[in-house]
Amino acid sequence: MRVTFPPEVEWVAETKPELLFPRETIDRRVKELAAQISRDYEGREPLLLGILKGSFVFMADLIRGLSIPCRVDFVRVASYGGDTQSSGEVRITGDLELPLTGRDVLIVEDIVDTGLTLSRLLGVLRERQPASVRVCAFLDKSARRRVPFTADYVGFAIPDRFVVGYGLDFNENYRFLPDVCMLKDIA
Ligand code: IMP
Repeated sequence: MRVTFPPEVEWVAETKPELLFPRETIDRRVKELAAQISRDYEGREPLLLGILKGSFVFMADLIRGLSIPCRVDFVRVASYGGDTQSSGEVRITGDLELPLTGRDVLIVEDIVDTGLTLSRLLGVLRERQPASVRVCAFLDKSARRRVPFTADYVGFAIPDRFVVGYGLDFNENYRFLPDVCMLKDIA
């Protein structure tokens, strides 16, 4: 299915993104996730910890679907290594404002790809002695895993395609799209 764009963003249309999840489908699924999280954390006040920048749209919708109170914080992570090195490290840059000690932490991530970022971030966060740590990922591209990693909550499993929109970018473009789209010729 084609996506339609206003003339101001014609450059987006020219790249012909293919629609994967329309906004209505996303909205329904995020509400389901929020309901499940509200049930699982009933009687508690989790700290939802978003990984910037990709998770900010998902976080905004997710917390508004919760029926329990929560706290919100964000971290930025810098990866050393990456695709060419398997032993890179993840460092938290732009650190947390809220303490994690004794808190139920729910990491909110846009997409799990190789799994390297989250598996390493979990290690770093556990050192801060939270009561619990779980992961809620909007998308899961499991075909590309390089380390075993399973998120506790997943919005959608997706094929091995590069996706944008709903906060996800390609070179900082496309984050504003309300739908999730696949880009052509980008692995
Ligand atoms: P990984 O799981 O450590 O490989 O890294 C996940 C990060 O890679 C995500 O937080 C995204 O920023 C980025 N990423 C991976 N796949 C995609 C994609 O299809 N679209 C946009 N960003 C992606």
